[in-house]
Amino acid sequence: MNEKDWIYVMDERDLPEGSISPVYPKGVNVLLAKVDGKVYALDGKCPHMGCPLFCGTLSGHTITCACHDWRFNVKTGEFIDAIELKLKVYGAKAENGRLFVSLPPMEQS
Ligand code: FES
Repeated sequence: MNEKDWIYVMDERDLPEGSISPVYPKGVNVLLAKVDGKVYALDGKCPHMGCPLFCGTLSGHTITCACHDWRFNVKTGEFIDAIELKLKVYGAKAENGRLFVSLPPMEQS
């Protein structure tokens, strides 16, 4: 991935451990989550009825949508009750106290 593909989204100190935050690189709705010191970036809109996932709650690697309790793994984007349904997962990295997202969806293996 080229350096130019990484988009600055926020300072790392503004995303404490175990928290989530919405960011909008190039206008795209992205949810950031920090778990065990690692930052994850995924689609910020619930695929059920479109509720914003930043209104949900994070427990470990699981984000639960505030509207109807659908649960997703923030590492993989998988819907926990039917893993064939996935949120898009984006690249995320921390560098020099700043957080960056790359928008092309990462391939899942
Ligand atoms: S909109 Fe997220 S569970 Fe219904």
